[in-house]
Amino acid sequence: MEEKYRILIVDDDQDVRETLREILLRIGRVQVDCVGDGETGFSLIQKRDFDLAFIDMRLPGMDGLKLLKLVKSHDSRLPVVMITGFPSVDSAIQTMKDGAADFITKPLRFQQIEHVVEKQLFQRAGSPGEALTTAVGTEEETSGALSARLNSKIKELSILYSISDSMGTADFDVDRFYERIVDLASMITGAERTSLMILDREANELRIKAARGLNEKIVGSARVPLGHGVAGRVLKSGRPLLVKNKEFSPFRTQRKAYKTESYVSIPLTIKGETFGVLNVTDKTDGSQFDEGETLLLLTLVRKAALNIENSFLYETLYNNLIDTLQCLVTTLEAKDRHTQRHSERVTDHALRIAKAMSCSREEIESIRFAGLLHDIGKIGIHDVVLQKSDGLTEDEFSLVRTHPIIGQNIIRPLGLLPMETAIVRNHHERWDGQGYPDGLTGEEIPLLARILAVADSFDAMTSDRPYRSAKTQQEAIDELKRCAGSQFDRGVVEAFLHVNGSDLSKDG
Ligand SMILES: [Fe+2]
Repeated sequence: MEEKYRILIVDDDQDVRETLREILLRIGRVQVDCVGDGETGFSLIQKRDFDLAFIDMRLPGMDGLKLLKLVKSHDSRLPVVMITGFPSVDSAIQTMKDGAADFITKPLRFQQIEHVVEKQLFQRAGSPGEALTTAVGTEEETSGALSARLNSKIKELSILYSISDSMGTADFDVDRFYERIVDLASMITGAERTSLMILDREANELRIKAARGLNEKIVGSARVPLGHGVAGRVLKSGRPLLVKNKEFSPFRTQRKAYKTESYVSIPLTIKGETFGVLNVTDKTDGSQFDEGETLLLLTLVRKAALNIENSFLYETLYNNLIDTLQCLVTTLEAKDRHTQRHSERVTDHALRIAKAMSCSREEIESIRFAGLLHDIGKIGIHDVVLQKSDGLTEDEFSLVRTHPIIGQNIIRPLGLLPMETAIVRNHHERWDGQGYPDGLTGEEIPLLARILAVADSFDAMTSDRPYRSAKTQQEAIDELKRCAGSQFDRGVVEAFLHVNGSDLSKDG
């Protein structure tokens, strides 16, 4: 059976007790006792063996500091974490002097508490007899050692806050996020070289997504197969690795290129599945990495994995939504044999025009994605009107003319790029200003909408309609030429003709 750690909470505020208890239980592998005053707390400590105690500074009757002293005189090895509302340097120094192992501040934060608990229990379990509480925090502690410990605590707290602050933003760019993890890891550990590797599932190997202090060539070309090298083995085992002295490393043959004999590799895990590894090597000051830094990196990576998971979830939901909309358009078009696969063909024509006009990669991707949605607004117009076999009345035509605006309203919540929105809203504008819905003129009409307009008209002309039969390809090309400069942008028509083996000077 898995070992459980016994933790005591002494706090007079029931809400704090309950919150802390909840957090501790979520961390897992713990058993928690709660009491509301110092006297009861101390009598419980005398009766039972605890692994860790949380004590509120302000308690009715016996206050927290007094209880701390009593506890330390009873069992100097029991780590005590003080809970404080308003931490000041004075009170922090006092608690540390009196033997507190650490302190946490209100309001309670999951991350802070998780970190403190892991540090205390890990250190007790990892090096019995050398717990932090016996090494420091006694009367004999020198002020130098105390101030070093306090400095390190302040650094740790500020790092934890910066981890919290720099993550969880709404607009999530995964590449920038990887860069940020690497920066934070370097900052936390003072490592000269840091890299974040993510598993390429198809090739079953790790690739570097972000790095600091590494040669660019290495970053671009490094491939680590699963189970190979330090990162590959950490990925396979799913367990963090701290190597303090290369001689004791199971992987020492791999590390010839590095200056110091110490490194840390932490796996990135979502729901038990490892998908990447964070590596730090070569501390700037030449010293070795320690357990405290490893724990901070674990905290960083856990928080990071959570954010990455959320972004994957968001991306999946987003893609599902887009697929659904594209499916709707296909279904809508399939209902009428005259418009079957219209949007797909329009997108193909538009892509060929865009490439001929040397559009950017981003513009081409926008057409690929939004071209399929350009007529999404027709969902809002009755089939009877859309499939009418004779001419439309003026009222019916006004109705059809609303589809770009309906379309824009449908895609608005998706947060598309302005040029993508323009494909939906402005694909019926005309170069001479006679189009709809905005009556834009010339280059006022966004380029991608001008491209879509030519592609859309060409496909409409070469398809049968209920009220007329299709023009031949040549007839449609002639019509485009005739309308270049009035209905259509001349440059776009030229590009279209170019990819179709014609040009404006040739007669039809
Ligand atoms: Fe349209």
